[in-house]
Amino acid sequence: MQIQPFALERFFARHEHDADVMLAESGIRPPPVAEFDTEPDSLGYVVPTDGDPELRATLADRYDRPAAEVVCTTGAQEANFTAFAALVDDHAVCVTPTYQSLHAVPDAVGEVTRVGLDSAGWTLDVEAVKEAVRPGTDVVVLNNPNNPTGRYHDRETVAALYEIAADADAYLLCDEVYRLLAEEPLPPVAAMGEHGVSTSSVSKAHGLAGCRFGWLAGPPAVVDAATRWTDYTTISPSTFGQHVARQAIERREKLLAENRALAADHRSIVASFLDEHGLGWSDPDCGVNALVEVPDGFDGGEQFCHSLVEEESVVLAPGEAFGVPDRFRIGYGLPRAELAEGLERLERFIERNG
Ligand SMILES: Cc1ncc(COP(=O)(O)O)c(C=O)c1O
Repeated sequence: MQIQPFALERFFARHEHDADVMLAESGIRPPPVAEFDTEPDSLGYVVPTDGDPELRATLADRYDRPAAEVVCTTGAQEANFTAFAALVDDHAVCVTPTYQSLHAVPDAVGEVTRVGLDSAGWTLDVEAVKEAVRPGTDVVVLNNPNNPTGRYHDRETVAALYEIAADADAYLLCDEVYRLLAEEPLPPVAAMGEHGVSTSSVSKAHGLAGCRFGWLAGPPAVVDAATRWTDYTTISPSTFGQHVARQAIERREKLLAENRALAADHRSIVASFLDEHGLGWSDPDCGVNALVEVPDGFDGGEQFCHSLVEEESVVLAPGEAFGVPDRFRIGYGLPRAELAEGLERLERFIERNG
């Protein structure tokens, strides 16, 4: 089994640690650690290893499913990985651009057909997905709301994808890590029926990436097969992570309201900045990410982002990591003062080099 290098992680690994401002983080800044009890009763594995039964039942309610149809994982990353390991024998159809795991992992275990969003408005042509499905397609993969564009595909689009997957006797897997940042979240795909599989975590909407706590919800056959893999990948989620994630989920109304407000506020700051500099963007409807056009005078996102980090110590994500070389991804979920500092340095850089 061969896996492609994770382009974004490799870029971050080179620069993130030493840079002054991380303007490409895909999640929201974490809430203060003092707001949480960080002492779990035990320092052993989570037992049962597929997650605390009460927490699983709470999560399962969102999907109109019993607790047994949710498995808790080490972040959405493990939820996606084990879902693909369980589901893909032959072929997956993946909507791109997207978070690289969502096509690289299925590509490692089977074959992938990518269906690109139309870069004019980052919309999805449902017919193109239908054409990409073939006998042997195991899963159609969507990330909604989408990273890196921040676009939220509407209910009709998701319903059409679900029908396409169901007609092919395949699954629709939707990575929904940004769903609860929407003012009016769509029903999760795992609540749509027996062909729906949802993955999520507390990393993005709750700002708790360090918990490494996520989950997968779906039909029993999928959850059971994924759990067979989690026995070999991490055995159980982290005890600390689950302990803090549970508290965040219990008080999610307040946490999510604060994070939605931050996302909306920072979105408008970034929109004004880009407008002033004449840079088009993906006009995100949800989340804290957007794709932005690389300014004239640069040879693509990689050159732009490398020069920026060298000259101004600010990290943006090159579009090449998402297969869109004429863009970069900005992440605006960071604290306000850091956002302001990052934009000030970015402005200096663009003015000096433009
Ligand atoms: C769409 C998407 N899915 C999954 C992940 C991984 O999330 P987690 O921290 O929950 O493993 C990310 C992280 O950036 C992401 O953007």
